[in-house]
Parts: sequence; structure tokens; C-alpha cells
Amino acid sequence: MTEVEHRRVHSGATPDQVAADLADLIRFEDDGMSLTDLENLIRQQLEPHFVRYDLPHFHSLFNTFLEPGAALGAEIALEWNQGVTNWQVSPGSAMLEELCCKALCRLFGLDQGADGTVMYCGTYANQQALYMALHRRAEERGFDLAEQGLAGFADPTRLAILTSVDAHFSLKHAARFLGLGEQCLVPVEADANRRMDAASLRAKVDEIQESRDIICVVATSGTTSTGSVDPVAAIADISNELETWLHVDGAYGLAYKLVPELAELFAGIERADSVSWDPHKQFGVPIPSSMLFVRRPHDFGRVALFSSYWNRADATEPNPGTKSIPSTRPLTVLPLVASIRHQGLDNLVQRLRAPIVAIGDLYEYLEQQPDFATCHVPDTGILCFRAVPAHVSPEKLNELQRHIYSLILAEGKRTTSITEIDGQTALRFVAISPQVTFEAMKETIVEIRKIAADLS
Ligand SMILES: Cc1ncc(COP(=O)(O)O)c(C=O)c1O
Repeated sequence: MTEVEHRRVHSGATPDQVAADLADLIRFEDDGMSLTDLENLIRQQLEPHFVRYDLPHFHSLFNTFLEPGAALGAEIALEWNQGVTNWQVSPGSAMLEELCCKALCRLFGLDQGADGTVMYCGTYANQQALYMALHRRAEERGFDLAEQGLAGFADPTRLAILTSVDAHFSLKHAARFLGLGEQCLVPVEADANRRMDAASLRAKVDEIQESRDIICVVATSGTTSTGSVDPVAAIADISNELETWLHVDGAYGLAYKLVPELAELFAGIERADSVSWDPHKQFGVPIPSSMLFVRRPHDFGRVALFSSYWNRADATEPNPGTKSIPSTRPLTVLPLVASIRHQGLDNLVQRLRAPIVAIGDLYEYLEQQPDFATCHVPDTGILCFRAVPAHVSPEKLNELQRHIYSLILAEGKRTTSITEIDGQTALRFVAISPQVTFEAMKETIVEIRKIAADLS
């Protein structure tokens, strides 16, 4: 590879070109091949179409390169290919997971009695949280959801879940899979900085309280679009009054509670009934690695299933598999534990802080540029903004952002992403790893300017 090629973030190839390169790999033949030939094939045909998460110009999504301690943990986990969910299948793995979940509850300052479980991804963590909320409401109504399902509710169409308009789409998946339908999701307006507005939440509660049965309020600690952190303490006050479940979707943002100067943003999170978190986003651990925490461990009992041969009800050893659905899971906490131990908390905080500082610097810079308009003040490591050159009329600005996004994507030297904010198309930079610097993002701004100028 030449230096220029080496520094490309991705190949920029079209789907047809990628498919052509991969054709050899999926030619399943009667004869096998040597490991050397196989490795060459994978490295030559597939690797060029991977994305370089380790480059400073990858500033678009929530992916990171592997942290070396995490890589060591992952190597050992792969070498042994241990299952986790049950004591019989691997005592060391089951115990490590249990201890790690408890240690993480303490690290994040969750409620003293809190516990956690490992989930495949944040989407499933959110889904399980909503299931537990629904289960508790069923108990309050005097029936067992596991036994009777939604039919136990007098009118399931009354069930409602309040979320910010900017909540992640995984909540829609959850509503669908739980049989509630998306109609159960009631959106609450966000403020100018894209945080859920507590006054709007209260107004929405007043508006629907008579006609709906509010089973859960979901706060997002770090929205996907803008990284905004909803005011959990104010939201917890309202959900406490309602005696309803409070779930915090911290899939992206919870990690930043460890950065002392950001911790205040997360005040009140210890009052949540459940919290989801994706270490695979900024911790540099292998995908997938997600967690679900609950304030009262017995809430995990709402998903427990026992059998005569596996996770027996009379077992006294830890069986982490009773806390979530899969009966087979990999040892994802080993890379996480190894990474935290390798870096130490001081370096870990520095790793988390560096991209946040870079995004803050970018915000200050763009605020001074007349041809750019920022869409919000960044709470965490995401900044959305629009190129607004004087020669482009306001009604063409959405098209301009999409044009910029497409050209940058096709070129492959850098990545940006795109989102919609209040009906306007915006460019979105995500700084997730310490590799993403202010300078690198400024270079992309220069590129964006050139693309915009070429349109004149
Ligand atoms: C706020 C939020 N919640 C949930 C998810 C879903 O997580 P996963 O991609 O691990 O399923 C994401 C993913 O980006 C997210 O940003």
C-alpha cells in the first residue's frame, strides 16, 4: 500500500465493486484451502473494504479501534471460546461477569444495591428494560405478564412510554417486538440544545394521563444525533411522582460520567430503574459489548427461566444467564476488564476526555465562521452543524449538506455523517476515540468549504 492509500479511511468503492472483490471468498468448494492462502484471500479481497477507525479523519460514527489491553483480553477469550451464562459451562467466566457487573455499578456511582448483566447490544438492552417495566406494571395490575402476556391488560392500547423526540430508534424496535406497537411511544419535545425538556415532559404527562397508562419514561444520556444528555434528575422527579419505571438509555453517553467535569450532566442516574450502556462505543473493546444495569436486582427475575438441565431453579452457584434471554454468550467482559486494568482509570478518563475537548474546540471555531452554523452546544463528543455559504440560498441548504456528505463518502479519505434536526439536514461529526483531533476535523471543514465553493 502507498502512504496515500494507507491513510484512506475506506476504499470508497461502490457496492458492485465490493461484491466483485468478495466473490472468491464465498465460492464454497469441495476442497478446502491452506490457512496461508485463506489469510491472503481475506487480507487482499476483504480488508481493503474495511473502515479505518484508528485514523483521525474517521469522525462520523461510534466505532473505535481496539485498545491493546482489550485486544489481549479478547485474544484469551477467543483462545478458550468460553460460554458465560451458566456456572457449568465456565465457572471462571460466570464469576468474572458477575464481579465485573457489580464493579461497574460502583464505578458509575449507581445505587448501592444495583446489579448488571451483559447484553448483545444496546438495542436489546433497551428492549429488556421496557419488558421489565411492562412486567412491573402487570404485577401492579395483579397478573403475571410472563403467563398472560399483553392480554392481561384491560386495554393494552392505553399503555404508553414517554421518550424524547431524539430517542434512539431501538425503542421503536422494542415497542414492535414487545407487541405494543409504535403507537405506545409518546414523543416529548427537546429544548434548543436537544435535551428532553422537563417542562414539556410534565405538560405531556398532564395531557395524556387520563387517557393513557404510562408504564415508562425513557431519558437518553447522550442522544445518537447530537450527544445531548437529558436532565435525568428532573425526569426522575416526574417519573417518581407517576410511580412509573425510569429507563436511562446511556448506550452512547454513560461512559462520560467517568470524566469528572462532565459527571454533573448525569446527576440523578442512580435513581433510574434501569440503565443501558455500550462499552463497545468508546472503550475500544470488541463489538459487541453492552450492559444493562438495574437498581433492584430482583427485576432481573422478571426475565429468568429455569430448566431441569440448565440454570436449575435450585442452583446455588451464579448463573448470569438467568438475567437476560440468551443461553449462550461470549466472555465479553474479559476484554473490558483487561482494558480497564491495562489503562488504569486515569488514562481511561484521558482517553474519554480527549475527543470531547476536540469537539468543544471545533464548536468554538465554527461559531466564528460566518459560512457555518452550529445546531447545538455539544454536551459530549458530537457536533451537528450546517455549511451555510452566502452564495447558496436557504431553500437549497438541505440539498447542499447531502451533496457534501455524498462527495466525502465517495472519496474515502475521511468520513462525516448526516442527520435531521427539526426538519433541517445537518452534517454530524462524532469524535469517539482520542485519535480524532481538532486539527483533523478542521481539515475536513476546509474540504467542506471547497465542495461548497465548487457549487458556485
Ligand atoms: C442512544 C443509543 N441507544 C441505543 C443504541 C443502540 O445500540 P446498539 O447499536 O448497540 O444496538 C444506540 C446506537 O448507536 C444509541 O446511540
